[in-house]
Amino acid sequence: MRARITGTGSYAPAKVLTNADLEGMVATSDEWITERTGIRERRLAASGEACSDLAVKAAERALIAAGIRAEDLDLILLATCTGDYPLPATACLIQHQLGAVRAAACDISAACCGFVYALSIADAYIRTGMRHVLVIGSEVMSAIIDWTDRNTCILFGDGAGAAVVSAGNDDRGILSTHLRSDGELWDLIAIPGGGSRLPPSEKVVAEKMNCIKMKGNETFKVAVRMLEEIARETLAANALRVEDLDLYVPHQANVRILKAVAGRLGLPLDKVMLNLDRYGNTSAASIPIALDEAVQQGRIREGSLVMLGAFGAGLTWASALLRW
Ligand code: UT7
Repeated sequence: MRARITGTGSYAPAKVLTNADLEGMVATSDEWITERTGIRERRLAASGEACSDLAVKAAERALIAAGIRAEDLDLILLATCTGDYPLPATACLIQHQLGAVRAAACDISAACCGFVYALSIADAYIRTGMRHVLVIGSEVMSAIIDWTDRNTCILFGDGAGAAVVSAGNDDRGILSTHLRSDGELWDLIAIPGGGSRLPPSEKVVAEKMNCIKMKGNETFKVAVRMLEEIARETLAANALRVEDLDLYVPHQANVRILKAVAGRLGLPLDKVMLNLDRYGNTSAASIPIALDEAVQQGRIREGSLVMLGAFGAGLTWASALLRW
């Protein structure tokens, strides 16, 4: 029994925020953002549009692509750090909206690695008897951004991506998943206020402690090392080489990180899926959006060897190897 992605879908809100728009908001420039990050524009959710709204649209597309009904789902896993409410899990709202009447539902909190963590959980459940698991990454990062902080506000965007993972009997599917964490580095990327350590208060909001803070430069260096290490580990675990890969679909945080990782691995850039120029960093949604675009563009076909690679707050880092 092997777990296989049988359908993908994605959704990005209509509103576009360009680098030129940001020039009017903080002391930055289109040139700086493009050169240092590779991002040119990002999408923003409309007022009142929440995480579950984006997720449901991506999920409906993935269900159609997989050719199954919501009623067929056994489990819905939503990777997010920007759920609709602190309680309940946003996955339950999605379960209701989709009409997935038989499905269990919960959220996975692993920041930008959330989709790969959730995929790994789906893989384990399929191997132990489930038939269909819906894995979603959906984020409204614009809700947790300090729009006066140029270190972070230029980086992030909103969006959702989804994948149906189903049981299959052939050799295709998820070959292996690899998950890591190092909580010693928790404060490289964090939202310091609004949780049980520092509950919501006027002070928390006034000091923007309910917004994401990041030590970008330190994160950058660790990210390159982690992505390279886990990619090598993943290939070694499957007795495969970098040359065997058809496409690397990494978390879309910074094009310079991804160029550095590709260079260290000896992977040509045309085998790296890049779409951060149009979406920015959409945290847990970035890999499933990129995966769906790669499928739509025909860059992933039956038999393709695809590696996913993620890193993010926690710190966490993760990878998955798939035979499509
Ligand atoms: O998904 C979560 C994982 N997060 C990431 O992967 C983020 C990883 N980090 C990065 O992508 C990069 O570190 C950034 C894009 C965040 C920053 O790029 P950098 O090359 O590391 O710049 P820096 O932080 O070292 O800052 C260089 C300079 C500083 O000015 P001084 O001190 O040299 O005068 C910053 O104040 O650039 C300045 N700066 C900016 N200038 C114009 C920082 N942000 C901006 C900005 N526009 N938006």
